[in-house]
Amino acid sequence: MKGNTAPMNTHELLDAIQHGKELQREHLRSILSLEDHNALHTIFQAAYETKVRQIGKKVFLRGLVEISNVCKKNCYYCGIRRDNSKVVRYSMPESEILTAAEWADHADFGSIVLQSGERSDHEFTNKIESLVAAIRERTGGRLGITLALGEQSPDTYNRWFQAGAHRYLLRIEASNPRLYAHLHPPDHSFQTRLDCLHSLRNIGYQTGTGVMIGLPTQTLDDLVDDLLFFRDFDIDMIGMGPYLVHADTPLAHEFPDFDRKKESQLNLGLKMIAAARLLLKDVNIASTTALQALQEDGRELGLQAGANVIMPNITAEQYRDSYQLYAGKPGLHDGPADTLGPLKNRIEKLGESIAFGEWGDPKHFFTRKSE
Ligand code: 5AD
Ligand code: SF4
Repeated sequence: MKGNTAPMNTHELLDAIQHGKELQREHLRSILSLEDHNALHTIFQAAYETKVRQIGKKVFLRGLVEISNVCKKNCYYCGIRRDNSKVVRYSMPESEILTAAEWADHADFGSIVLQSGERSDHEFTNKIESLVAAIRERTGGRLGITLALGEQSPDTYNRWFQAGAHRYLLRIEASNPRLYAHLHPPDHSFQTRLDCLHSLRNIGYQTGTGVMIGLPTQTLDDLVDDLLFFRDFDIDMIGMGPYLVHADTPLAHEFPDFDRKKESQLNLGLKMIAAARLLLKDVNIASTTALQALQEDGRELGLQAGANVIMPNITAEQYRDSYQLYAGKPGLHDGPADTLGPLKNRIEKLGESIAFGEWGDPKHFFTRKSE
């Protein structure tokens, strides 16, 4: 019946949400196609209230360190893809990564994310293993460690887990294999990505995934399927954001009118957050930088639509220019310390507070484990 159900009217949708009914495909589709401002406001508010009931009026921080832009992959949408010869490649020395982790610990972030382009050679996997162990040691085990380092073998994932990483983010990018194939060269395998997600979960990581929203050829039904994929995979954390064009990538020519579509990209991103919160309830959902790239207060809007995690970039300024996955990345000329003060004010203005010093584990992880 996929995609063939009659459109649901707004009254029916709001009624289902207000009565806490379990959302079905047609509810999700209806949320994603809503245009009416008042109805949308009601949906965002309901998602926000769900977040407050599940997590409280607090925001978890993860300090994001973009440790290297060297990547062996060639995803059609990404600015640091292998074939983009305009990118100046870097790999942060271990000492600088440790300094960033110590900085995050002192600033009471509670948690960090190490992200990079994809590499799976021994030099890289060994470096990460010793780095994770060193961060744990230097911060007395206080700092939660999330990795976002792409597809790896089960053995590598396991070694990094044993070294002390406990969360892993690996976006499925698009849960529809046809769309996935449209976004990636033929040697990038959808099945491998799924296998990786399975092995991360089996090893015991708190497992996060996500998609890009508003991609060329993506339909609303694809996005509904993405949400159902998160549910059926029993995912603990979601990091998803609007697709943004990077001019030096093959996918750019499929979205020539992007500059005129920024508002709808932002809105679709917010609707996906609200739908995910209403559907999944107790997971962590990040309000991603891609929202902020579209509108200055985009991340705050994400929090008001049901997200509960923010990942401030704490990479040293000298590297930021070289880690541009998309055009319009904010904070290119900021250093680690520049964002925290303003961010804290913005969050407090929403009536929320930063959960300083907390790991901020997703409740869903523990529910899932106990079942
Ligand atoms: N627009 C939005 N998100 C992007 N990513 C990569 N390129 C883009 C882009 N052009 C996202 C992917 C990847 C994450 C690190 O960044 O989803 O998993
Ligand atoms: Fe590499 Fe990730 Fe960009 Fe793909 S999305 S090219 S794997 S950094």
